Amino acid sequence: MSSSQPLPTHALAAPLSGLPSASLRGRLRPPGDKSISHRAFILSLLTVGQTDIEGLLEGEDVLSTARACAALGAQVERNGEGRWQVRGMGLGALLPPRAALDFGNAGTGSRLMMGVVAGHGITAQFDGDASLRKRPMRRVLDPLTLMGAQVLAEAPGGRCPILLKGTPEPLPIDYQTKVASAQVKSAVLLAGLNSPGRTILIEPQASRDHTEKMLRFFGATIASEPSGAHGRKITLEGRPELRPARIIVPADPSSAAFPIVAALIVKGSDVVIEGMMMNPLRTGLLTTLSEMGAAIEILDRREEGGEEVADLRVRGSALRGVDVPAERAPSMIDEYPILAVAAAFASGETRMRGLSELRVKESDRLAALAEGLRSAGVTCAIDGDDLIVAGTGGKVPGGGMVATHLDHRIAMSFLCLGLAAQKPMAVDDERMIATSFPTFKADMTHLGAVFS
Ligand code: S3P
Repeated sequence: MSSSQPLPTHALAAPLSGLPSASLRGRLRPPGDKSISHRAFILSLLTVGQTDIEGLLEGEDVLSTARACAALGAQVERNGEGRWQVRGMGLGALLPPRAALDFGNAGTGSRLMMGVVAGHGITAQFDGDASLRKRPMRRVLDPLTLMGAQVLAEAPGGRCPILLKGTPEPLPIDYQTKVASAQVKSAVLLAGLNSPGRTILIEPQASRDHTEKMLRFFGATIASEPSGAHGRKITLEGRPELRPARIIVPADPSSAAFPIVAALIVKGSDVVIEGMMMNPLRTGLLTTLSEMGAAIEILDRREEGGEEVADLRVRGSALRGVDVPAERAPSMIDEYPILAVAAAFASGETRMRGLSELRVKESDRLAALAEGLRSAGVTCAIDGDDLIVAGTGGKVPGGGMVATHLDHRIAMSFLCLGLAAQKPMAVDDERMIATSFPTFKADMTHLGAVFS
C-alpha cells in the first residue's frame, strides 16, 4: 500500500431508507473489530519483522491508519480478504512522513498515532474530514506534551489540522486521565513505549484494554491492576523488544450491535451472530439488553486469537425500559445510538446515564440521537448528561429523515429503526457506514432487511 493512495471520495451525499421488513433470519458474521484492527497496524509498524493479520476490518477508518503506517515507513500489503502483511520499521526508527497524515473520519487512528509520533524524533501533520476536525484532541495532546512532544500548530480549541513534533526521548510519566478513554490511555502508552523509563497511567473507569493485551502479546512488559472502585492502573516498561506476531481479529461487538438489535425489534426474527468478541470491557450492551428482556442465547464460547468469542442466537423480543448506570458507559460507549433505538421499541421508559462523552464522538451523538428519535415520532429528553427515551411498546411511527452528521453509527441505528417501524425511516447519507461496517447493507439484506 502506498501512503499517498487517496481515500475514495464520493462527492454527493447518498440518502437511504430502512423499510418495514418481515422477520430477519439467518447467520451473520460481523466485520473485524475496529479497535483491534487499528492497533494491529500500529503495533506492526513499531515491530521489526513481519506481522500477519487475519480478519482485519477493511473499513475506511482502518485503511487510513494503514496508509499512515506506510507513510511512517512500514511496508503494508493486502494478501486477500481481511489478510494483511506488515513489515514494520521498529520502535525508534520511524521515517518522517512526506505529507500530512489524513485520517479521514478516524478518531481512534489519529489519536493513537499522535502517541506514536510524540514518542519519536519526527514531525507530522494530522488532519481528517469535517467530523474529525471538530473533535477535541487536547485530551491526548496534554499528556503527550508532558512527555516532551510539542504542538507546533493547531486549529482553535486543540483541533485538527495539528502539527506535532515528537521527541526521541519521551519522558516517562505518571498520568491520571480525566475521562475514561481508551484512546487517551493508548496514546500515552504508545508514546511511553519509546521512553527509557516506566510509564504509569491511571484511568478513573476501566476502558477497553486492547492496547495492553496486544502490547503484551508482542512481548512488552505491561501490568494492569485495579485502581479505586472502577478504575485501572497500568504500568509499562519502556523500550521493549517487540516481536512480530500473528493477529487474528475477532468480530466487532460494536458492529454486531446493529443486527442484534434489529433482530430483537423486528417481530419473529431468529438470527445467529457468529464469532462476536466477548471481552467484558465491550459487552455492556448485552448486559443491558438482557435486563430489558432480550432473548439472546450465548451458544459457543471459545477463544480465538487471544480473545473470548461466542455465537449469539437472537430472537424477536418484547423489551422493557431500564435504567442504565453511568459506570457501564465505557463498556458500551459506541452502542448508545442503537440502544436508544431498542429503548424506543420497549415498553416503559429507559434512562441512559452519564453520556457526556457522546457529545464528542463522530458527531454530537446525544443531540443527533434526540433529533433522530423525535423525527421518528418517539418522545425523548436530554436531562444533563442523561438520555431518557419513552418506549412505545413496539409501535414506533417512523416516517422521518435523520441528519447523520458524518456519523456511521447514527446512520446504521436509524436504518435499523426503519426495519421495525410503521413507516420507513430515512437517513440523509449512508456513505460513512463504510468507515466501520462496509458490508452492512448487503449483510442485513441477506437476513431479510429491506432498504431503498
Ligand atoms: C476506541 C475507544 C472509544 C470508542 C472508539 C474506539 C478505541 O473512544 O468510542 O470508537 O479503539 O480505543 P474513547 O476512548 O474516546 O472513549
